[in-house]
Order: sequence, then C-alpha cells, then structure tokens
Amino acid sequence: MSLLSESVGSVDKVDFNDSKISLKLSNGSAEISSFDEQIFRVRVMIKDERDFSYAITNPDKINEEVKFDDLDSKIRFSTTKGHLEIYKYQFIVDLLNHSEKSLTKDDSLGTRFIGNELTVYKRLKEDEKFLGLGEKTGPLNKKGRAYVNWNTDQFAYSPDDDPMYCTTPFYLGVHKDGLYGVFLDSTYKSSFNFGASNDRFTSITVENGSLNIYYILGDSLAEITQAYCRLTGTQALPPKWSLGYQQCRYSYYPEHEIRNLARTFRDKKIPADVLYFDIHYMEDYKVFTFHNERFPDPKKLISDLKEDGFRSVVIVDPGIKVEKGYDAYEEGKDKGYFMKYPDGEDFAAQVWPGWSNFPDFTNPEVRDWWKDKIGYYTNLDITGIWNDMNEIASWGQSTPDLIINDYDGDKTSHKKARNVYGMQMARSTAEGIIQNKPNERPFVLTRSAYAGIQRFAAVWTGDNVSSDDHMLLGARMLAGMGLCGMAFAGNDAGGFVGETSGKLFARWIAQSAFTPFFRGHTMVNSTDAEPWSFGEEVEDVSRNFIELRYKLMPYIYSLFWEAHNNGMPIVRTLAYYWSNDSTVYDGAFENQYLFGDSIMVAPMRSDTDFVKIYFPQGVWYDLFTDEKYIGSEVSILEYEIAKYPLFARGGTFFTEQSLVQNTNENHDGVLKIHLYQGSTGSVFNFVHFEDDNISFDYKEDKYYQRTISYDPEKNELVFLSSEGKMESSFNKIQLIFHGFEIDNLSINGSEKSVREIKQYRFIGKISNFDPFYNDDDDGLHADQLPYVEFENEKGEIRVKW
Ligand code: GLC
Repeated sequence: MSLLSESVGSVDKVDFNDSKISLKLSNGSAEISSFDEQIFRVRVMIKDERDFSYAITNPDKINEEVKFDDLDSKIRFSTTKGHLEIYKYQFIVDLLNHSEKSLTKDDSLGTRFIGNELTVYKRLKEDEKFLGLGEKTGPLNKKGRAYVNWNTDQFAYSPDDDPMYCTTPFYLGVHKDGLYGVFLDSTYKSSFNFGASNDRFTSITVENGSLNIYYILGDSLAEITQAYCRLTGTQALPPKWSLGYQQCRYSYYPEHEIRNLARTFRDKKIPADVLYFDIHYMEDYKVFTFHNERFPDPKKLISDLKEDGFRSVVIVDPGIKVEKGYDAYEEGKDKGYFMKYPDGEDFAAQVWPGWSNFPDFTNPEVRDWWKDKIGYYTNLDITGIWNDMNEIASWGQSTPDLIINDYDGDKTSHKKARNVYGMQMARSTAEGIIQNKPNERPFVLTRSAYAGIQRFAAVWTGDNVSSDDHMLLGARMLAGMGLCGMAFAGNDAGGFVGETSGKLFARWIAQSAFTPFFRGHTMVNSTDAEPWSFGEEVEDVSRNFIELRYKLMPYIYSLFWEAHNNGMPIVRTLAYYWSNDSTVYDGAFENQYLFGDSIMVAPMRSDTDFVKIYFPQGVWYDLFTDEKYIGSEVSILEYEIAKYPLFARGGTFFTEQSLVQNTNENHDGVLKIHLYQGSTGSVFNFVHFEDDNISFDYKEDKYYQRTISYDPEKNELVFLSSEGKMESSFNKIQLIFHGFEIDNLSINGSEKSVREIKQYRFIGKISNFDPFYNDDDDGLHADQLPYVEFENEKGEIRVKW
C-alpha cells in the first residue's frame, strides 16, 4: 500500500441502467442516482461495501425522471431542478442549479484515499458560509473550522469543544450563486473541514467504507432541510404533554421529594407537565428496577402524579449491571445479546452500576428483546423514557474498537457502529413503548444520535454549563439541529454543571420557553434549581415565561405538526429566512432566531441588561409593548430581568389560548389570534392543528386542521374550511390587531363593530417587592388594541378591514 495519498483516478467506464449510473474508476468505483428532483446521490468506493443505511427511510426510492448525457469530457446527469456533472479525466463532481450556476465543485485534488480513509476536496468559494452539522459547538457559520463526528460523552463541554454526543453529517452551504446541502451518510468516524488550516478547500473524510454523499438542491435553506427530511424522515409527532415545562434534577428521591415537587408547582401555580426520575430511582442503578425503599409503590406514585397532571419520565441507560440473578443481565447474557469481543467474551465497562454489559442495539433481535423489556415501564403507565450515556459512555471513555456489532446482519467492528448505537437504542425504546401501548405516542429523549433520530426521539444538548456563554451557545446549537431535521431539541435550562445564579436562571427559562424542548435540569449535589429556588423575583419571572409558553401552546403544537409533516424546524436561525444578508452571520447576531414564522427571539446574557439586536428586513413589534422596529437596523435595547427580547413579525400572526396549569387542563374555548401589521413580502399562511394530544388517531384523520391565511395587501384574514374528523376545542375566535387603526371590519360580508382592549399583557405583573415603588406601568403591556370576537364556524370565514 502506498504511503502517499492516491486519487480514485479517472473514469474508465460508464454504464447507465435503470436510471442509475455506474462508473469504473482507475482506483475504485462510483454509483450515481437521484432520489427525487432535488436530490442526487454519489457513492464512491475503493472497496465493496453493502449498501445499507440507518438514516434513509426509503432506500429503494429512485427518481426515474432523469436525463443522462455522456459527453466527451464529462457526464451530465439532470433532474428538473439541477445537474450533476462528472469529469472523466479525473473523477471530479460539480453540482449545478437549474440556471447552470456551480453550487459546489470538487477541487482539482478530487477524491483521494490514504489507506482506507477516503476524502473529497471541494473548492472553497470566497463568500461561502457553512451551516448545520446538527449538535455542534462554535459559531453559526462554520467556515474556517473543522469538525469530527464521533459520538462522545462531552461532559461540561466548552463552547468550542468537539466531537459531541451526536453525529449528523449534514451541512448547508450558502454563497452568492445559490444554496445547497451535503449529507454524508456514513456511520464511520467522519470529519468536515470548512477551510480550517487551509485557504483552498472544504473536505469530507470518512475513516473507512464508502464516501456516500447526497447532494441537495433548493432555493432556500427551508427547501433544503425539507428535502433532507424526505430522505431521513420528519419529527415524530410528540405527545402534547412533552411540550410543557419539564422539571429534572440528578436526582429527585425518595418518593416524598417527588410528591413535594409536584405539590410545589401546583401550590405556586407554576405550570408544569413532566417530572423526571434520574438514576437514583433504580436499585443499584439497574435498569428495569425501582429502588424498594425510595420508591416502594411506583405504580401508585405514577398514577397519583398523572391525576395531578404530571407525566413521569425515567432515565434508562444502556449499561446492564453484571450481577448474577438480575434478570436483564441473565437474559442478555444467555441469549448473547451483549456486544462481544472477537473471542466471544462479553464486553464489559464501568458506568453508574459498576461493571456493565451493553446490549447490541444494532442487532434487530436485541432491539426486539429491548422492546419487550420496555413493558416494565409501560406497565407502570410510563410512556416517557430518557436514554442517556448511549454514545456509549463509560469510565475511561475508550470503548475498544474491536468489539463486534451486528449492524443489522453485516457484522462489523465498533468503528462503524458507534455513531449509530445511541440512535438504535432510542429507536427500540420508542418502538417498545408503542408495542406495549399501541395507541400512545411515546416521548423518548436521547443524548446520542445519528442522522434520522427525529423519527424516534427528542435530543437535548447534554451536560452544558451554568454560564452565559453556554446559554447563548445553546440557542445556536438548536438552530443547527433544526436545520438538520432535529426539530424537537433543547438545552438544560439553568445549565447542568456548576451553580446558576438567579438572574441566569431567569434569563435561561425565558430563552428555553422559546425552544422546542423545555426542561430545567441540574447536576447531583448542586444547589436547588427549581423556578422558586432563587427568591421571589426570579420565581415571578420564571412563572411568567412558563405561563407564556403554555398560552402559546396552540401555536407551538401547530409548529410541531408542521415539523412532523414536512421537516420544518421550530428554531429557525435568521439565516433560514435571510441567507443572503451577511449581518445575520455576524457574531453579534448569530444567536437570534425565529420561533416558528412569527416570533423573533434575541437571546441575551444575564450579566448585563443591554442587548444589541439586529432587526432583519420587515417590521417588528416588541412582544410586550408593541413598540415598533423597522428593519434592516441594529438597536441596543435595555431589558431588565422581568423582560426579554421577543418580537412579533409584522405581516404574520400567532395564536394564544387561556392559561392552564398543564396541557391536560381545558382552556376557556377562546382562540386568540394576534395579527401584526406589516408584510413579509407575501401572503402568510398558518396551519392551526388540534387532535386528542396523545394518540395516533390523527393517522385516521381524527384531527382538526385549518389553514388561516393573512393577506396584508388586501387587509384580509381568511379561515379556510376546516379539515379532519374532529371539532375544534375552540368555539370562539378573538382577533387582536397590533399596529393597526381600524375603521370598518366585516366578517363574511357583514359589518362587525370593533372593540378595544385597553391594556393587553402577554405576561403578568411581577410582585411589588418595593412598597415605595409604583410599577403600575411596568413597560410590559400594549395599549388600546382593536379586536373582534366571533364564533369559530366550520365553514370559510373571511375577515376584511
Ligand atoms: C449524564 C446526563 C445527565 C444526568 C446524569 C445522571 O451526565 O447527561 O443529564 O443527570 O448523567 O444520570
């Protein structure tokens, strides 16, 4: 074998058959196909490898509407949306859009290998920006950085650490000629270099196996993310309770601690839906057990909590304690379900329970066994499971490479299986809950993942640190995850490692209320970190933002429905809308995002009351006061602890309901629609969605869905006829106008008088701690808003003003 890098060489033979191209290269081979009009696949090999993927949901799908031209110097392969050109003198790939602009082209270095390691080098464009890669640290634009995909227990990571817990080898490129996506579907250790330590290329490297790349065309980041989700699946629709506030710590025990916690939320009227059982609930950290003394009657406890509107989530790690007589251990050992060394001995490492074995989740038979085991929890009426330490993590953090994984019938060393282990664990956990409770949507939370995880689980960003930098990093990480299909993601609010201050906690709760997964969590032996642990002011502020989360639930739930249907993220970096506006990549503004289409969040630090905010093109309204900001402008604004930089986007609307203490409680039947004057440049459509919040009946059309369309040019809001077999839980609609002066208004042609709300508050007043200070005007309300109220009739409703 050569000690130098070698090129895969020239194209020596071309075959075009069944809409696929096969190429013989001087030092390997390549296969080229198209998945749909937006997606090309290029797979390069220097040795044969089975074509199998854990990420792709529809591996046999092939686009037959393709055009193939074998020209002298190159091959051209086209769909209606773009072209792929392959040069013959040397295997060089160029991706072009429909107007023949090159989006990403291999450098003249092409594709090369060193031993088994394969790398493709792509010519860097001057203004090129790189986004995505899922849960990664660093800036929003990853240009000038390099990243490694190797699932790692990155405890207390710094804002630049890498690798992380998850592998999502998908990035999105943006430059003046267009946008594109690149998905490397390989579970081997891989790396991406976006011009780090060089001024020439972006490179994609796989340690072994094929270089299996999907190139994605699209006119916006949204289109590219949606196409990626056609490949890897969309977010599973979560049960609504998992969108409420979730309270965790490492760990709440014994039983009276948990009961106390539940009581405190209800007594203090701080809405919450989920309480966590971290590792101390178990007997000696053995999964599928409850500690006898700490939790003598788990069934009763879980059921009492449920009565009170709380769901329970239990942690389930992969390590199975090596202990004679422990059934999970005995069964796993007898059946040969644990990962093994090549000589047949079960691999053991130390983790919470001490020496442990690890089920091979890449084996379908093991996954089936695990699904049965999950019945232990579902029998206790637990349908929320938290899979942690599944990178896999163990003391020493050096899982030996030589251990064997089944990899769905194609045995491999751990080198190929590690990055998909956590995902397969989460998958069998989710499938296990469904198998045992067929009509309940599971909630699975995982720390480790591979591309496609969104089909099975939510992901949180692991052991973050109680610091301002981490809080802001968290927002960026969620934006990256959203672009990569992981719509249901969140950070530990308050920070996991270290001690949070009251103000940091308050700010973090405000930020996390506007992230898809909303959970407070803290480390073992840290001081208390519940919303009431930092005094009355922080308690009031936390309550306010948690309440706001619950009031926005109709909006949030509908966003999840959208994510489920087409892969749209919920946290959307500004680049998602304004990819050509270079300011959105500026370090000062890269953490800003839109939560859905209508609310902009400008994450801010707790150690200052000032924040510099970029208002992109359009009209923006301070959510609390309706103060108006016109883009494209930068403003420095002051926010004391009670407030937070949230802005409604002109030309859109969002929905609100009355306050409830948990998602199972009924609202008052009035759906508020907050409509903001302005324009996004087009008609704004929003799909309002309702169902029973918990089952799979939506698959049988048992839902209520209604497209609401706002045309700012015509001053018109149209509720299209409702769809689905359910009735809405809202009998009235209150339409509240922001930024408008309204003289006449008609509903379906009849005049309707407009009334006025004197003072509108999205959040309550905070207590008057200082008796001499009169805070009647706390700067947290909007005044004199026109509104109308009408029946939520099934047929079309046309409001015109
Ligand atoms: C890991 C998890 C953390 C959990 C702890 C104990 O550090 O990331 O969230 O609390 O283990 O289970």
